[in-house]
Amino acid sequence: LNNGLARTPQMGWNSWNFFACNINETVIKETADALVSSGLADLGYIHVNIDDCWSNLLRDSKGQLVPHPETFPSGIKLLADYVHSKGLKLGIYSDAGVFTCQVRPGSLFHEKDDADIFASWGVDYLKYDNCFNLGIKPIERYPPMRDALNATGRSIFYSLCEWGVDDPALWAKEVGNSWRTTDDINDTWASMTAIADLNNKWASYAGPGGWNDPDMLEVGNGGMTYEEYRGHFSIWALMKAPLLIGCDVRNMTAETFEILSNKEVIAVNQDPLGVQGRKIQANGEDDCQQVWSGPLTGDRMVVALWNRCSKPATITASWDMIGLESTVSVSVRDLWQHKDITDNASVSFEAQVEAHDCHMYILTPQAVVSRSDV
Ligand code: GLA
Repeated sequence: LNNGLARTPQMGWNSWNFFACNINETVIKETADALVSSGLADLGYIHVNIDDCWSNLLRDSKGQLVPHPETFPSGIKLLADYVHSKGLKLGIYSDAGVFTCQVRPGSLFHEKDDADIFASWGVDYLKYDNCFNLGIKPIERYPPMRDALNATGRSIFYSLCEWGVDDPALWAKEVGNSWRTTDDINDTWASMTAIADLNNKWASYAGPGGWNDPDMLEVGNGGMTYEEYRGHFSIWALMKAPLLIGCDVRNMTAETFEILSNKEVIAVNQDPLGVQGRKIQANGEDDCQQVWSGPLTGDRMVVALWNRCSKPATITASWDMIGLESTVSVSVRDLWQHKDITDNASVSFEAQVEAHDCHMYILTPQAVVSRSDV
């Protein structure tokens, strides 16, 4: 969407994956505090996004949305002020239907009122869900909120959550800043890998202003191993997915923090070229030995060797497969070991990767000596 936002994928936190409906203004404030004190905010995680269940069960007598009086007694405006005072941005949630998925009031046919009230509260981001949609097509229901947000004059990131219905990559670029390509993720290896594959299909449609959204991160929620979460984070970064943390950042383990704070992996996600990397090769039983790759600024390439097999495997990335000229020599940097592996690889390189682990590299071409210099 051409609203000046989302030049790179959005980064931040969202309440749903860990808290579901157990949210309140204290949790949101403490999360904002933790994003700042942990250093995650400085790394780019600036959106603090409230998901479903923030609102009261009914609109007020004037038909306006109201925050739940017990869990958000101070109101969203004061919460936004607080989040802004920390240098962060506040996100909220509604639904392009008559109710949200947890049966709070939806915004269908209330787009103008709701966009106006969000803007008046100082909201910076709207996630717009797809429940109770009366069977009306997403292409009919999502643009009215885009127009209503635009009419407020406030800059509001517009995140479509239509679960991939009607192949949004084909139409949502003019509607939102990101669109979901799949159903909800859950905190399992099977869900995460399946979603990665589904999102991969739409790679060519992503770019500055509008990104494919394979749903929020589960890193730190406990259902996967350290290696599996490292793969989850690596592949989401490479696919230019939104990096929305979904765990309780007030109580992160050192391992969770290490993954989420990997600057080199974040830089891949935020690379200004904005090209979604893809699955380039899949070998072995069930195609489990995978190479994912994509271009970065400065003629560099990112390469992930993702072992989705249940045994260790040696995985090879050849220039031919990732689209480098056969004569090019590159230096290879490992983004998880934070080490330069070699300054002179040609034709291909390989690594032994543990079961369900993922290595991630940046390949930088060596300065080419042109003929006239020889
Ligand atoms: C849907 C969305 C989720 C979350 C829940 C909240 O399932 O896809 O991301 O927002 O609703 O009810």
